[in-house]
Amino acid sequence: MSVYGVQGEERNDFTKKESRQIRSRSLALLGSLMRPLRVRVIWMSIVVIVAVGAQVAGPALIAVGIDRGLPAVVAGDWAPLYVIVIAYLVTGVVGAVFIAQYTVMSARISQAILIDLRKRVFLHTQRLSLEFHEKYTSGRIISRQTSDLDAIRELLDSGINSLIQGFLYMLFIAVALFSLDWVSGVVLFGSLVPLWILTRWFQLRSQTMFRQSRVASARLIVSFVETMTGIRAVKAFRKQKRNQAEFGAQVEAYRKVNNDVIQLFGIFDPGLVLIGNVTVAVVLLVGGFRVAEGQLEIGALLAALLYTRRFFDPMEEMAMFYNSYQSAAAALEKISGVLEEKPSVPDPVDPVDLWEAKGNLCFKGVEFAYAADRVILPKFDLSMTAGQTIALVGSTGAGKSTLAKLMSRFYDPTEGSITLDGVDLRKLHPKDLRRAIVMVTQESYLFSGTVADNVWIGDPEATFDDVVRATKAVGAHEFIEALPHGYDTEVNKRGGRVSAGQRQLISFARAFLANPAVLILDEATSSLDIPSERLVQEALQTLLADRTAVIIAHRLSTVAIADRVLVMEHGKVVEDGTPEELISGTGRFAKLHAAWRDSLV
Ligand SMILES: Nc1ncnc2c1ncn2[C@@H]1O[C@H](COP(=O)(O)OP(=O)(O)OP(=O)(O)O)[C@@H](O)[C@H]1O
Ligand SMILES: [Mg+2]
Repeated sequence: MSVYGVQGEERNDFTKKESRQIRSRSLALLGSLMRPLRVRVIWMSIVVIVAVGAQVAGPALIAVGIDRGLPAVVAGDWAPLYVIVIAYLVTGVVGAVFIAQYTVMSARISQAILIDLRKRVFLHTQRLSLEFHEKYTSGRIISRQTSDLDAIRELLDSGINSLIQGFLYMLFIAVALFSLDWVSGVVLFGSLVPLWILTRWFQLRSQTMFRQSRVASARLIVSFVETMTGIRAVKAFRKQKRNQAEFGAQVEAYRKVNNDVIQLFGIFDPGLVLIGNVTVAVVLLVGGFRVAEGQLEIGALLAALLYTRRFFDPMEEMAMFYNSYQSAAAALEKISGVLEEKPSVPDPVDPVDLWEAKGNLCFKGVEFAYAADRVILPKFDLSMTAGQTIALVGSTGAGKSTLAKLMSRFYDPTEGSITLDGVDLRKLHPKDLRRAIVMVTQESYLFSGTVADNVWIGDPEATFDDVVRATKAVGAHEFIEALPHGYDTEVNKRGGRVSAGQRQLISFARAFLANPAVLILDEATSSLDIPSERLVQEALQTLLADRTAVIIAHRLSTVAIADRVLVMEHGKVVEDGTPEELISGTGRFAKLHAAWRDSLV
């Protein structure tokens, strides 16, 4: 099941069966995260049991001190009291040391889980195909890495800690109280009824509120990320006012739901205190009667009161656990959803190696659709012979980029097959595929680092001289030399900012260094001015000589160097021939070309 199918907001309307699947998917993820940490978790459990046991021993030792030690002192024997005092100190020290140890151990475990999860999310989203990234907005990916992982961190760091400690604490106190004085134990048990009702009420109410709060905060993040990524459009169209109003409304919604949450705590907390105090009063009253009748010793009553008092201490944090658990569970569900996505373009199981690709591309019975209900490229056959320079032209939305994405296997055809030198792209070893086929697009992306680093991406094994040769070949050398630090200029820092055209030249150099058998340029020259484009074209002509090249361009000047032209309309190749043939004919290309000629004079 795919969770990212819905644009924008996350889905909330899952059916019962889907919810169950999602839960088991989260649990499976949790299990796989915990498995390597088994031994450490067992050690940690032992440590926390000893720590809590030592803490709970205190009041019982006080009871023994009062009921046994004091009478002995009165009789002149100090030894029992000394023993008890020492025992009290020892349990205190042991409790402190073990709690400290437990804190360190649990922090280490939670850090290990988080690092593992963070890496998995990064590696997996990076591995997913283009299809995923064209649908799953970057705001949502950012949420997975930030707020979702934060929710899980909070659960691991404080939530689980307080739950385990709190639960053990209450359990040990109940056991100690029953063995000390079972009547007080029964009174404490009686208090569990109102306690349960209060907690249940709190859980049910808070569940919906916390969900609303999470949705509200997710909206804030998405709206923030969208505004900032589209800041140019925001400014250009003066959308600030409207954004401000929208953002203001979202902030207000978030404030309101948080306010409701706080009010809920305003009832829950005093409720807990009240139940605790009433229980202590009842234990004191019942105990008082029994002391009067000689059924209970004073020290035991004091211990019973201390236990009863302390019993309620962890309650609030445990109720808070429910909050952090809910956020973390939701976060884990979303993360497990991303991790479960399979690349729509999977790596081959039995990859075929292709050491030296020649560059013969062949489409056989290929049909393609992004979504099942809309075929973009109806069934077609096409072959591109090694060494050909092919211009692909056609109106906007004709399917040129789609064809390019199929050729470079960013998508697989819905039907039919595409082969490189007779090997199906789906079977070709990914390394050989990426080496053999390179696509350069309009949005040439530069990574943080120097200009040279960015060219080097094309072939990490190349020497610096190779890098310079590549930049010279595409006419980028001059402007790079003129940058503040030449080839060592950091591209994303101040002063290193390069223009869109210069970015394209760098990505050309990158592609030329890669030296692929098939090179696809999808409107890659559109940001260049005419002289630069000329320059590139001269370079193109020599460099494209021994490889298959597909050039997609709206400017017909780019087409001049092609030895074959494909005209696409509505996903179909409607004309195919040499430029001369098509120009002398009466088809679409001839008309386009004539119009272009006229515009030049
Ligand atoms: N990721 C996508 N998901 C769904 N439909 C898409 C996607 N990308 C493109 N399309 C659709 O496929 C059709 C062809 O788009 P394509 O980008 O291949 O056109 P193009 O020929 O490259 O146009 P242009 O000259 O404007 O770049 C368009 O109708 C477009 O709506
Ligand atoms: Mg396009």
